Amino acid sequence: MKHSFIISGTSNHPLAEKISRATKIPLGKTLTGRFSNGEAQIRVEEKIYGNTFYIVQSLSMPVDEHIMELCLIADALKRGGAEKIVAVVPWFGYGIQDKVFLPGEALSSKVVIDFLQTVGIHSLITVDLHSDNIIGFFDIPVVHVTAIPLFVQHILKNYGKNVLVVSPDFGGAKRARRFAKTMGQKGTIGIIDKERSLTTGAVELRGINLDVKNKVVVIPDDFISTGSTMVEVIPLIKKAGAEKIIACISHPILAKDAAEKISRGALDELIVTDTIVIEKEKMKFLKKKLSVISISSLIMPYLRV
Ligand code: R5P
Repeated sequence: MKHSFIISGTSNHPLAEKISRATKIPLGKTLTGRFSNGEAQIRVEEKIYGNTFYIVQSLSMPVDEHIMELCLIADALKRGGAEKIVAVVPWFGYGIQDKVFLPGEALSSKVVIDFLQTVGIHSLITVDLHSDNIIGFFDIPVVHVTAIPLFVQHILKNYGKNVLVVSPDFGGAKRARRFAKTMGQKGTIGIIDKERSLTTGAVELRGINLDVKNKVVVIPDDFISTGSTMVEVIPLIKKAGAEKIIACISHPILAKDAAEKISRGALDELIVTDTIVIEKEKMKFLKKKLSVISISSLIMPYLRV
């Protein structure tokens, strides 16, 4: 008889457990340790031959370690004769460098995808990629789901329909438009004129195209990393007279002191998903402002018991 298992890497056990409980697909027993020289050691302690495996692993920090772990788990399954290996990668790290922005840079997204494809992964499920472009770098099937309907549900329930959707930059305009449409809105979305230096990463804002006075403003974005975008965008919107500011962020990377920086600002609510586990110390800063929505329901339809 054929069986399915969920294999959890070390990046997001809570999500793997949640998906396992909801789907009734058991969590496979694995050993994910380290040799004394720091190299990852993987052993899948289930019957592998002929079975289906869903590896849940976000490419969150430490990113390179999590990529390596995912590759070693997949390789172990391939060598053991798994019939199907599906990588569930809720946050696809290295998806940001999907172009050679400056001469001399690597096309990192493609390198990571090529790497993943050599270890026997048959298909990949992911959430809110930074850019759809990278789907073209894959030769295996990719299921790309979005958390927008989950955010919209939360916004409608807590703030009603009368909100203004504002993209923090031109790059996010498509996402903001989709968000507004899912809200049932047909009007103009707000877009902030933002420029980020390709060399230093510094963010500069030049203004917004809409009147936000006395409005509840919702900012959808794919991730918060250093927090620079939010730290610049929020005061601009507040100064323009917004009544409330809500951020809907798919992936809470929250690098360095981003959580602390954001907690100090005028943001009223930060809604994120559980694609990335937020460390306890960072949680402390955001506690009162933070809501976490699970993306498990988006993944579940693609898993078979
Ligand atoms: C930009 O293209 C992204 O969608 C995010 O808006 C941005 O890069 C977030 O990064 P940070 O928090 O470092 O400003």
